Amino acid sequence: MKAVVLCAGLGTRLRPLTFSTAKHLIPVANKPVLFYGIESLVEVGAREIGIVVSRESRPVIQNAVDDGSRWGAVVTYIEQHHPRGLAHACACAEEFVGGEPFIMYLGDNLLPDGLRAPVELFRSTGANAVVLLKEVDDPSRFGIAEIEGNRIVRLVEKPKEPRSNLAIVGGYIFDRNIFDSIRRISPSWRGEYEITDAIQDLVDRGFTVLPYVVPGWWKDTGKPEDILDANRVVLDGMRSAIEGTVDEASELQGTVIVSAGAEVVHCRIQGPVMIGRDARIFGATLGPYVSLGDRVHVRNSRLTNCVVMEDTTIDYIELPLRDSLIGRRVVLRGQAQEPGMRLLLGDYCEVELREK
Ligand code: DAU
Repeated sequence: MKAVVLCAGLGTRLRPLTFSTAKHLIPVANKPVLFYGIESLVEVGAREIGIVVSRESRPVIQNAVDDGSRWGAVVTYIEQHHPRGLAHACACAEEFVGGEPFIMYLGDNLLPDGLRAPVELFRSTGANAVVLLKEVDDPSRFGIAEIEGNRIVRLVEKPKEPRSNLAIVGGYIFDRNIFDSIRRISPSWRGEYEITDAIQDLVDRGFTVLPYVVPGWWKDTGKPEDILDANRVVLDGMRSAIEGTVDEASELQGTVIVSAGAEVVHCRIQGPVMIGRDARIFGATLGPYVSLGDRVHVRNSRLTNCVVMEDTTIDYIELPLRDSLIGRRVVLRGQAQEPGMRLLLGDYCEVELREK
């Protein structure tokens, strides 16, 4: 079975980070969100992967994923010239798919349970489509499905008054009929060709559309809070591993990962915390729930619930830095004593904090 991964779209809710990268490459526990998806696809044997990219996202995604051989996959890049909706993005991949059933996966979604069970459901039932769903508290943020018996009977994209709390999550398995349905739909109120409407068309034409309700956790990582939430959940599932060096003056509690080449000196670390390769951490108080990317330098600073990307320097930030998402090659330094702050900093920012 082939797979189509959608990675066009603008990622406006993650600006300024998405001015210089794609939202699919923002790291969760030091691994880009998209890589979790690719791993799940390869796990179910979907090694021929078409990644739908925009002109803007193409160079960064291609640079990070390359030809897919690192996962034993073969990746083809398919350009969608304008972000005209998920159904339009899917249609761009019609030739790549070549008439066979395929998995469609939203590249900004995290589904740690993987795709085995829904793929098995699709194969064993001979359904025309399987749509992954999850109960949510805020259904009007998502596409919503209504179920009768064991089938999906109604789907609505971001309804104002949702009639179900079952959100459509970022995984779908389709046979070739979806492409005819995509040709039959019109743009929605937000001007997009919605895959939700195309699936409704499958239902209306009498095809079998089955739900698969994801038992575990799921996250759409479209907003900064989502990245921090995802980072917490993924770190919670990890085990300690010390491959770098930690001096005797440092105190480590809970799950702490110190990657190869990293150096931790005179620090207090309350896990879960992940420290990337060749990072240098001196006199810092970290955790819980902190991920520091490769080659990050932190000196005499306090961080809680933060994701810090590669090559960033944080120097003398003694007020606790909380709930923050900090890009690559940022320089953040200062000696202010105000009681805590929250930052969303894009790549290459420079911030200096001073007392009055
Ligand atoms: O996250 C789950 C939700 O994803 C579903 O509940 C909704 O039914 C579905 O429409 C979608 O809603 P979003 O508004 O969150 O979609 P977003 O614009 O974030 O796009 C999802 C992915 O698809 C993202 O990786 C970007 C990509 N994309 C998006 C558009 C609009 C494309 O490749 N091309 C596009 O034209």
